[in-house]
Amino acid sequence: MERAHEATPENRYYAPGEERAEKVHRLFSRIARRYDRINDLMSWGMHRVWKRRLVSLADPRSGEKALDICCGTGDVARRLAAGPLNFSCEVVGLDFTEEMLEIARKVTPGNLRVSYRQGDALALPFPDASFDIVTCAYGLRNLADLDRGLAEASRVLRPGGRLASLEFGRPANLLLSTLYFAYLRAALPIFGWIFFGDPHTYGYIFATVSRFPGQRELAARMKDAGFDAVEVHDSMGGAMGICLARKASKPAGKSS
Ligand SMILES: C[S@@+](CC[C@H](N)C(=O)[O-])C[C@H]1O[C@@H](n2cnc3c(N)ncnc32)[C@H](O)[C@@H]1O
Repeated sequence: MERAHEATPENRYYAPGEERAEKVHRLFSRIARRYDRINDLMSWGMHRVWKRRLVSLADPRSGEKALDICCGTGDVARRLAAGPLNFSCEVVGLDFTEEMLEIARKVTPGNLRVSYRQGDALALPFPDASFDIVTCAYGLRNLADLDRGLAEASRVLRPGGRLASLEFGRPANLLLSTLYFAYLRAALPIFGWIFFGDPHTYGYIFATVSRFPGQRELAARMKDAGFDAVEVHDSMGGAMGICLARKASKPAGKSS
């Protein structure tokens, strides 16, 4: 059973189920301008390292087409498109919050093949099998319907295409887990208080992480959505988790 959400202060930015999308959208419209700076402070700059690892595991190659869902201000989209001389991976960044996309467009250098599109990760505006790679950083946790999000990612990937997701994870070690959740619960609201005069703005992270399945259950849900060869890559003792999966070449259950 879901924990009670009625009338809790966190409820301003977090709700389970259908109400979720509206609250998430409202939150990111509000924090867009300061999102990148707070990300650096909150993670002590480490989100850059984890995103670099995500992109390296997704392994974009020249001539491929990648989609970064929940792209926010475009950090991962730009990393996917950047490469050595003559490298050319075409990237689409998709997000439903126009304020985040405005920043993404502003800071993306013109020499990168990245375009941005406003849209819903639960109803992707692309035909089946149109991408080689789908990435998502800190996005799946925010979706109102995780399984639908995974099904959409699978639909737009070509058979054999890769899905790579970076998310807050669940450390297996009890001491680390206790410290980690204490940091999310007690320290992150301070950033909300400092930057927005409202501790609940960043309280949504604890609310969403504590309800989101850990990386191992996420990997299992990816398999249910038609992915195979699912790998879990932990960082910082599992505080961050990357799930890398390949879309099965044949629909599950078909042997020939
Ligand atoms: C925590 S931010 C992550 C941004 C970026 N990927 C990063 O790592 O910096 C989550 C983003 O997901 C977007 N988002 C949440 N639900 C979405 C949905 N259903 N469709 C599209 N974007 C969504 C929000 O607007 C927000 O920009």
